Amino acid sequence: MEKLRVAIFVSGKGSNMVELLKACQQKHYPATIKLVICDNPKSLALKKTKKFKVPTELVNLNRYQNRNSFEKEILRLLAINKIEFICLAGFMKILSHDFVSKWYGNIINIHPSLLPKYPGLKTHSRALSDNSKITGCSIHFVSSTVDKGPIIAQSKVNISVNDNIESLSAKVLIKEHLLYKEVLKSIAEIKTKY
Ligand code: GAR
Repeated sequence: MEKLRVAIFVSGKGSNMVELLKACQQKHYPATIKLVICDNPKSLALKKTKKFKVPTELVNLNRYQNRNSFEKEILRLLAINKIEFICLAGFMKILSHDFVSKWYGNIINIHPSLLPKYPGLKTHSRALSDNSKITGCSIHFVSSTVDKGPIIAQSKVNISVNDNIESLSAKVLIKEHLLYKEVLKSIAEIKTKY
């Protein structure tokens, strides 16, 4: 049985990416990471892929005439690597309606809040200023409206009175790492009957 061929898109530290790469190294995990695309030359994720020996491509928007040619290059890389599914893991560029339409149903994102609460940026500072008692993370299908696609799974985190942005971010990341590999596993099992 063939494993699902996955690309990860990343811009930052790449901790979710590393967890997915580790999960995909397991013999019976139904997905395999065949490509990492990073848009940020300063991303720590670029260094972290090295030990996994996964094809990694830096596609820096600043080096392209416009967003269209940037996305065209990404589509070319996805095609030559025969990618079937995309996981956004801290990818901070907004993908166009055209791009998302092509991949709809086969592109998911992880977001550090319990959507529909706190779409966009600074999720933890907003949760703290609202005195929320609970936050968490969500995995959703990517649609043309940012952070508004159908939710697949969520994981909750209690906010304590002592939490600050750093502590909350660390607590939510632990849940993100667990949830992302579980969700990818379930999706890949369905898609491949692995
Ligand atoms: C994660 O918390 C992820 O949920 C968030 O960026 C962080 C990336 O961390 N994504 C978004 O905010 C997307 N809107 P990582 O690079 O260590 O995985």
